[in-house]
Amino acid sequence: MRTRTGIRRIDWIVWSLAAVFLAYAAVAAVPPTEAAKPTAYAEECGACHTAYPARLLRPADWAVVLATLDRHFGVDASLNDTTRAAVARQLGVDPAVASAATTKAVPRITQQGWFREEHDEISAQLLRSPAVRGAANCSACHAGADRDQFDDHSVRIPR
Ligand code: HEC
Ligand code: HEC
Repeated sequence: MRTRTGIRRIDWIVWSLAAVFLAYAAVAAVPPTEAAKPTAYAEECGACHTAYPARLLRPADWAVVLATLDRHFGVDASLNDTTRAAVARQLGVDPAVASAATTKAVPRITQQGWFREEHDEISAQLLRSPAVRGAANCSACHAGADRDQFDDHSVRIPR
């Protein structure tokens, strides 16, 4: 009887240690500092508006946005070369292209065909309202816009 309980106890200890080790390994696999650190893109381009998810514009359009930051929709949003290169990489754009001079008009997400279709039932009056302040202010209606969450369940139109 004695030995059996003894063995069971050792069994229990071994399994507990294994569980603790596995839990530790799982936590260690995701370095918390890395995950929590905001990217250059989120920090610089999320300062004035939603950090628009990269997939919402084509790389060629992002390149124009990044090449024209000194005349960015009426504001100067210039970045130094190092930061702009980091932002470009996060948007999937070649940093060299993102700094090439261009006279092209700065593209908008809110003028893409799919955007107009998805939002054609929203009145201009609502978009102008103080609660929304323009179609470009995605977060007014999509709380998870920064995290690329736009599904029907997370839409909330402010009244
Ligand atoms: C100093 C403030 C400021 C910063 C910093 C800034 N923006 Fe903007 N951005 C604006 C303003 C103002 C608009 C126009 C918003 C509107 O029309 O309602 C705008 C609009 C945009 C649009 C078009 C939105 C639409 O209508 O579809 C894109 C794309 C954009 N910004 C990308 C960026 C990127 C990329 C960065 C970082 C490199 C950035 N912005 C940094 C102020 C800023
Ligand atoms: C005034 C509120 C409002 C604003 C501002 C707004 N949206 Fe929307 N958006 C909606 C509504 C309402 C729908 C339709 C939801 C539905 O019926 O599926 C929608 C749908 C979408 C969808 C399709 C979601 C899906 O899975 O069907 C995307 C993507 C989207 N919006 C992106 C954006 C982006 C990007 C911006 C900012 C540039 C933005 N929206 C600004 C209200 C808004």
